[in-house]
Amino acid sequence: MKFSENIQNIVFQHISEIVTRQNQPAYVIGGFVRDLILGRASKDVDIVVEGSGIALAKEVARRIDPKIKVSFFKSYGTAMFRYKDKEYEFVGARKESYNRDSRNPEVEDGSVEDDQLRRDFTINALALSLAEPDFGELMDPFNGYADLKRGIIRTPRDPKVTFSDDPLRMLRAIRFAAQLNFHIDEQAYDAIVANVERLEIISKERINEELHKIMLAPKPSIGFKLLAKTGILTYIFPELAAMQGVDKREGMAHKDNLFHSLKVLDNIARLTDDLWLRWAALLHDIGKPPTKRFVEGHGWTFHGHEYRGAKMIPGIFRRMKLPLNQKMKYVQKMVSLHMRPIVLVEDEVTDSAVRRLLFEAGNEIEDLMTLCEADITSKNHEKVQRYLQNYQIVRQKLQEVEEKDRIRNFQPPITGEIIMQAFGVGPSKIIGDIKQAIKNAILDGKISNNFDEAWAFMEQYAADYGLKLLKSKGDVIADEDQAKSEDDR
Ligand code: CTP
Repeated sequence: MKFSENIQNIVFQHISEIVTRQNQPAYVIGGFVRDLILGRASKDVDIVVEGSGIALAKEVARRIDPKIKVSFFKSYGTAMFRYKDKEYEFVGARKESYNRDSRNPEVEDGSVEDDQLRRDFTINALALSLAEPDFGELMDPFNGYADLKRGIIRTPRDPKVTFSDDPLRMLRAIRFAAQLNFHIDEQAYDAIVANVERLEIISKERINEELHKIMLAPKPSIGFKLLAKTGILTYIFPELAAMQGVDKREGMAHKDNLFHSLKVLDNIARLTDDLWLRWAALLHDIGKPPTKRFVEGHGWTFHGHEYRGAKMIPGIFRRMKLPLNQKMKYVQKMVSLHMRPIVLVEDEVTDSAVRRLLFEAGNEIEDLMTLCEADITSKNHEKVQRYLQNYQIVRQKLQEVEEKDRIRNFQPPITGEIIMQAFGVGPSKIIGDIKQAIKNAILDGKISNNFDEAWAFMEQYAADYGLKLLKSKGDVIADEDQAKSEDDR
């Protein structure tokens, strides 16, 4: 089979000219070939050559444009350059054997077929020849092409060997199954189940890379169900694994929270490519196992699971080495607020409740609504329609209230500093109380979100505590203006 038409660019042309002249076998290999056959876009191009990859890379780059910067690692025998939108990586064909306790292989020169054999999956071991007269010819000693067409993930060697060489490949198998909607071949699957604990030598960062790719797949549940079934989930993410299962008492069962969360994740995957919103969908009910209770005569409850879940996030992120920055705070916020719009829908949608939600969600309100819509997983079509309709009402109300009251980025119009000046009181509990009362009055719609109404409210509220104004409104404003202009200088 020939794919010469698909590899017509200046880089491949120069490689072809050089290796044909030198009578040196060279191939484009791996993910690029797999994706080319599948019609997927790929950014990285891996070239393997019998001989020096570094020398070939330098020669190709020099011919195309001497300004191209070639980076190389002498000890690994690899070289890389960027050209147009692609990264080209060159390496000499290798035979490898791995040491049981590390990912670092011992390497020696080998043929292209040796190089194919040491790769993870048959679909990733496909190679296209670059030397004439075979330019574009598929080299496929392990029937990877057939596996690609049938949707099978299979290892070129005994999977026990392939996975023990590099246990990360067990996760890669699941990741490819999720990305491509492929099936893992039975022998490979069994080898994964038997070797889960070998993941211990893999860094958390590399595990996360695969988890993120599963998360970003069109239907991430495929990957997570495999992680659960193989036992990997219990190993790398026990809190999520703990969500699996159904308890029944007095004839009442709760839903399987893992499968529910995976449905929500699949739903949100249709609405957004935002990795962290997807994480929030996966984790929105993570607080359910520790809050699960059975109430006699009533049924199962998960009271406060959203707050418990939000509290669990930092510990999970720290252990898994996920980022502990704004991304984590965002996931936490989504988890803690995910019940709020539902409550709004079930009760009457009052302006005051909408204002409070807007205040707490801020700019994340849209994402929160997306999460809540994805959270509707009922099989009852009528129920789904009713919920979606109710959320539509909430969205409309959110918009109306936001236009009127500008709550989303709400800053109280009267600061603690102003209150202290107005009453001549130093920092104390009463100042906090007044500030809070003003905020609540605005959120409850008793007063509008502006300085004048807040001032009038403050004056009256403070009078109940026996506080009297020491400065007039005009004086406070003048002092504030002056303080601001001094700050600006
Ligand atoms: N490979 C391998 N074992 C690994 C990682 C990679 O055998 N643990 C081989 C595979 O042949 C793979 C190639 O190296 O195709 C390139 O790896 P990489 O760039 O990580 O993955 P791709 O297959 O290109 O897929 P993606 O770009 O989607 O990650």
